[in-house]
Amino acid sequence: MTQQDRAAARARELRALLDHHSHRYYVLDDPEISDAEYDRLFAELVAIERERPDLAREDSPTQRVGARPSATFAPVVHGQAMLSLGNVFTDQELADFDRRVRERLGHGNVSYVAEPKLDGLAVSLRYEDGVLVRAATRGDGTTGEDVTSNVRTIRVCPLRLRGGAPPRILEVRGEVYLPRDGFLRLNESQIAQGAKPFANPRNAAAGSLRQLDPAVTAKRPLRLFCYGIGEWVGAAGPSSQEALLELLADLGLPVNPERRMVAGYEGCLCYYEELGRKRRDLPYEIDGVVYKVNEVAEQRLLGELSRTPRWAVAHKFPAEEAVTEVVGIDVQVGRTGALTPVAVLVPVAVGGVMVSHATLHNPEELERKDVRVGDFVSVRRAGDVIPEIVSVLRERRPSGTLAFTFPDHCPVCGSPVVRDEGVVARCAGGLVCRAQRRQTILHFASRRAMDIEGLGDKLVEQLVEHRKIATVADLYRLAPGHLTGLERMGERSAGKVVDAIKASRHTTLPRFLYALGIPEVGEATAIALARHFGDLDDLIAADEGRLVEVPDVGPVVAHAIATFFSEAHNREVIAALKAAGVSWPRLERPVGGPLSGKTVVLTGTLDGMTREQARVALERLGAKVVSSVSARTDYVVAGRDPGSKVKRAEELGIPVMGEDGLRAWLGEDQSGSD
Ligand code: IVH
Repeated sequence: MTQQDRAAARARELRALLDHHSHRYYVLDDPEISDAEYDRLFAELVAIERERPDLAREDSPTQRVGARPSATFAPVVHGQAMLSLGNVFTDQELADFDRRVRERLGHGNVSYVAEPKLDGLAVSLRYEDGVLVRAATRGDGTTGEDVTSNVRTIRVCPLRLRGGAPPRILEVRGEVYLPRDGFLRLNESQIAQGAKPFANPRNAAAGSLRQLDPAVTAKRPLRLFCYGIGEWVGAAGPSSQEALLELLADLGLPVNPERRMVAGYEGCLCYYEELGRKRRDLPYEIDGVVYKVNEVAEQRLLGELSRTPRWAVAHKFPAEEAVTEVVGIDVQVGRTGALTPVAVLVPVAVGGVMVSHATLHNPEELERKDVRVGDFVSVRRAGDVIPEIVSVLRERRPSGTLAFTFPDHCPVCGSPVVRDEGVVARCAGGLVCRAQRRQTILHFASRRAMDIEGLGDKLVEQLVEHRKIATVADLYRLAPGHLTGLERMGERSAGKVVDAIKASRHTTLPRFLYALGIPEVGEATAIALARHFGDLDDLIAADEGRLVEVPDVGPVVAHAIATFFSEAHNREVIAALKAAGVSWPRLERPVGGPLSGKTVVLTGTLDGMTREQARVALERLGAKVVSSVSARTDYVVAGRDPGSKVKRAEELGIPVMGEDGLRAWLGEDQSGSD
């Protein structure tokens, strides 16, 4: 084989490998290789295609985000019209649908395929000889818009069908959607950038697919489920909806795993109720169930009305949105002083839960929506998240309402309100502010922090209000007598709370760090910090350069930690807590171990163990394992595909050893512990 042939063969092989692994990862949710390994194969293919542009191909996995931004979306006439669905809302309407089907078919029990009805955007994907050539929105059903470049960026959407003999022409119909977590992340970033958040995942999916720049679409975590076909040219097509969905899955297209065959009206209803219960746990939003007569021959007999088939129907879930009246707008102060406007509502049932408050997130959001006391608003509840206001019904706005003026002084302590670079408004009062103090103390006492039983909302509020405590350290000075005068505090319960406070003094370093409420430091970071430094004084003394050596601590978190400990007030509270007897067992890092005092960086893939296992083993030898290479690093252990850290170590003259070197150390450990 010539060099040229070898490159062509390798490119073919890499494309097949990458297609296979991205199908495992995105469609089957069952990856066989690590992300790093995938990235390596991908980089290899990019390199070959760059060197040999003649080998580049449209359906190559490297070509997902190829196209330039366009000015408009060209019209596309669908090979076969994209129908819509009729809706039923009640059991009776469903029974009527099933009766009409049975009457027309002239038999008693019809088999249906039941599928979740995703709340996204319908698309048609045209494959010719197995290659994706065009993707279009539904449009008016006959003509849609060409969104090919954007659909190509959706990782679950195959650019080439799998299997040997795809039909000559296949139009696949499906729904593009945004999973819940992707939707939340997208809106967070919209808000952070001062852009408008999307009202719901459907709008977000539609907005993302109709981006003129595919590079923007590529950053949106869009997904796809396929549920039907349009034009089909090739060998005889599948004879049932069930077989069709199987076939689509075999071709490598994503098909919803919740689909199921059901019998008659009862079967449909059973599935509907079951999916209704499961709905909250699904990673995407659905607005109902679709039932389709299974046999294609029967579908043909039933035929179509002008825009909807007689052989399928959508059974909608009750609305998750409801309209109610705003009776007030509160501004709440959080632990870090962030001010959150909250609408107080006339209580209303939304998706089966009573809602009386809805968050307006921040002043900018409030201003944008222009929610006013007296307004009628549409309230939405999605999963467990705090209910929010989708829109104001302007036509119902009573006369004489006033736009809400956001306070420029903290409603609790009167300190000035400052806006940071983002959209957050903050009370500048710090712990002078009773609200911040109260939230700080509640956080300190919470279950996963110091775990002080009985120190709840009401009690902390009274303690702060009556100036019995100002800081968390004051808790440890409380005697039962300080509490007995307070609401709902008898001698017994006062004694219990004081005992619980006392008992909380014996804690662990991670809990203590988490309890301090350092901005950006959650439980996981607290554990990482404790493990890394072992000692609180070392942590307090660390500058940002040392803090970023802690796994998962980036510059933002490092800055927040350093700032926190640089404030005299915080150091005083910590000293007072220690003086009150708050203590934790030392995290033992063996002194005198063969690597004690040494700082080691692990990088690349190890063959015999995970990096976490290697870290634990090294720590057992006394080493400190950090994530980035600096002048303070003693050794770098490099597995396969180590990346830039080795280069950096070489620049700094730090010894780099392979996995063998690591094993030699660990061997020493075993012989030592015998
Ligand atoms: S079948 C002829 N199946 O709902 C059949 N549609 O209200 C046409 N949809 O335009 C559609 N999930 O955007 C079908 N499993 C599913 C669906 C589904 C969501 C959407 C689709 C359609 C709309 C009709």
